[in-house]
Amino acid sequence: MERAGYELVVVANRLPVDVTVDEEGGTSWKRSPGGLVTALQPVMQQADGAWVGWAGKPDLEHEPFDADGMHLVPVALSAEEIAQYYEGFSNDTLWPLCHDVISPPEFHRTWWEAYRRVNRRFAEAAAGQAAQGATVWVQDYQLQLVPAMLRSMRPDLRIGYFHHIPFPPLEIFSQLPWRRQVIEGLLGADLIGFQRPGDASNFIRVVRRLTDLTTRGSMVSVPTEHGHRGVRAAAFPISIDSSKFDALARTEAVKARAREIRHDLGDPKVLLLGVDRLDYTKGIRHRIKAFGELLEDKRLEVPEAALVQVASPSRENVEAYQQLREEVEILVGRINGEHGQIGSAAIYYMHHSYPPEEMAALYLAADVMLVTALRDGMNLVAKEFVAACTDDTGVLVLSEFAGAADELSGALLINPHDIEGMKDAIERAVRMDPREVRRRMRKLRRRVIEDDVTKWSQRFLSTLTAVPDQPSPPPAR
Ligand code: F6P
Repeated sequence: MERAGYELVVVANRLPVDVTVDEEGGTSWKRSPGGLVTALQPVMQQADGAWVGWAGKPDLEHEPFDADGMHLVPVALSAEEIAQYYEGFSNDTLWPLCHDVISPPEFHRTWWEAYRRVNRRFAEAAAGQAAQGATVWVQDYQLQLVPAMLRSMRPDLRIGYFHHIPFPPLEIFSQLPWRRQVIEGLLGADLIGFQRPGDASNFIRVVRRLTDLTTRGSMVSVPTEHGHRGVRAAAFPISIDSSKFDALARTEAVKARAREIRHDLGDPKVLLLGVDRLDYTKGIRHRIKAFGELLEDKRLEVPEAALVQVASPSRENVEAYQQLREEVEILVGRINGEHGQIGSAAIYYMHHSYPPEEMAALYLAADVMLVTALRDGMNLVAKEFVAACTDDTGVLVLSEFAGAADELSGALLINPHDIEGMKDAIERAVRMDPREVRRRMRKLRRRVIEDDVTKWSQRFLSTLTAVPDQPSPPPAR
């Protein structure tokens, strides 16, 4: 019998909206944070699919509902599961492990057990939504066990997985006590997507070294009851809804707001901008330090130059994030104390998140955008900035450790660990000849407008469809 359900099901840790239920049982929601939502929301608004995910609050049992043109299926997590699966294993074990161990990962067996339990719940929820033979697209490191769990529940499905963050080198991945189970979990997919070719090759190397499976190029051969199944691992660099962002930045309201922002900041000659989740991977301290030293050296001066730093609240129960917040706020306070003047701060620091209209206005208002991540899967802020620079002005200073650096030639690439190098690049961006600014920005815009998120999802989903569904003989070693 044919199963009812959706032909496309996305499973992600978070739904695109965080839900709040008031005392009368009424529901309201606001957009949830992060690049994954930025990328997938437009894809799912166009598809007739379902999005399975957590609604952002503990113990929220809620029926599936429609919001913003999407069908959303909430998965409930208890407060303890949030602490162990989300804050613990996902964000205090896997996150630092995948980001060059910038902060030391913690390994706790109780966290791992919660991760397994919650992954099973997501797999069951996805299995319950998918039509016979449907495509299920699993998202990100929080759900690496879902592909194999889902395959054992629903062998009829075509399963894709996309890893939004870096995949670590073997030498680091090997620290994970449950490394074999994670690899097996991922290999339940037919296609495993990564941001950069280097991430895909890290994964293939991990498979070769930590399992007995045979690999050939980007293919891994996994034994099944009837023969072998091919799993493909490849890079699919993610993007944004570029034309929508471009159109937003062209609206009169956004242009007027951009002028107002500059005016309210005292019309500085040079406005620098940083926009990040408040995360230790983003290099926020390094960037602020470089800016502070440029002021110290009098290579930049207040009030001619100002830095706006938007640091949206993130993972606030995780200690490493609390510590980072303290450090950033002390640093900002010190620099403002030393270089600020009455009516003109050196750094305008905002610990808030803002809607896309305000972000577009900030990008449009800025002269120099600073993306200085120590390690980042892609960094969609860099692409949003470019899409918003409709007047072809604006210089992007971009870390070579962000996936976006592979694509965004036209940016000034920097190594954020090299503070002197970063200072030189910032100064160069500030003083760049307007003709060079335009030339670089046009190049960046061509790329970002062309390679948008629709193309990304189409490339991924058409590659997934092309993976043969018949068992095949194992490739020769
Ligand atoms: O892009 C990486 C990512 O971890 C996404 O999976 C997530 O949606 C986003 O960052 C924001 O993180 P969080 O859901 O932990 O707030």
